[in-house]
Amino acid sequence: MTTPTALVTGASRGLGLALATSLNARGWQLVLDARDGDRLATAVGSLPLPGLVTALSGDVADPAHRATLAAAVPARLDLLVANASDLGPSPLPPLAELPLPAFERLLAVNTVAPLALVQLLLPALRRAGGRALLVSSDAAVEGYAGWGGYGASKAALDQLGRVLAVEEPDLRVYAVDPGDMATDMHQAAFPGEDISDRPSPDSVVPALLRLIGGDLPSGRYRTAELAPAGAPA
Ligand SMILES: NC(=O)c1ccc[n+]([C@@H]2O[C@H](COP(=O)([O-])OP(=O)(O)OC[C@H]3O[C@@H](n4cnc5c(N)ncnc54)[C@H](OP(=O)(O)O)[C@@H]3O)[C@@H](O)[C@H]2O)c1
Repeated sequence: MTTPTALVTGASRGLGLALATSLNARGWQLVLDARDGDRLATAVGSLPLPGLVTALSGDVADPAHRATLAAAVPARLDLLVANASDLGPSPLPPLAELPLPAFERLLAVNTVAPLALVQLLLPALRRAGGRALLVSSDAAVEGYAGWGGYGASKAALDQLGRVLAVEEPDLRVYAVDPGDMATDMHQAAFPGEDISDRPSPDSVVPALLRLIGGDLPSGRYRTAELAPAGAPA
């Protein structure tokens, strides 16, 4: 059996690191990124099998970085996880005050970059009959004040996944809402608030593993609705 390979963006902390840790412990080969190279290197050092990891620091909104990521992926890619995301200004402004450059940045990181990676990696995903996991949010479907820019970028990501699933029936394409998690991004959304009651990103990983190793059809899922993983890949 060949070693499965995943590219996980935004893997230096939060959900990306939690998922990378779990996959790596299962023997997956990983290509990981984040902008802060020192923090990414520390994260990789904490993984159970760091020898299986290629870490490349950079911004997913940068086409040259995306090309570098794609070049590090072997001919067959089992899993692409578009996880790296921008939140926008903190505290979250109402749409009336959302700076348009900030909205353009949200779209560049949360929507355009995942599609660009899909485009670059489709040949490798097709060879493996692989899966794309697009990390979404309940803000994509709810009307939360302050979340309009971020939510619109995630709603567009959901729709890209919905259409990609139809266009690429031999792949599994999942948009997944992980729910609230106690992470740096969530803290930035609620500055000054105690968010320690939110679930840890680790607690969400078993549901993601059901999408990664199970037989669920392409679609949009909420981790809260997914039963814990059985025996994933
Ligand atoms: N936390 C929540 O409550 C929650 C709820 C719903 C959905 N989500 C979604 O879950 C996913 C993970 O979020 P999280 O809470 O784990 O976030 P997080 O803890 O803030 O981690 C974000 C990761 O992405 C990296 N990153 C951010 N922007 C990047 C960029 N432009 N290029 C490359 N890497 C980048 C960060 O490292 P650098 O800063 O060094 O780049 C970090 O490794 C996101 O898609 C988010 O939208 C989160």
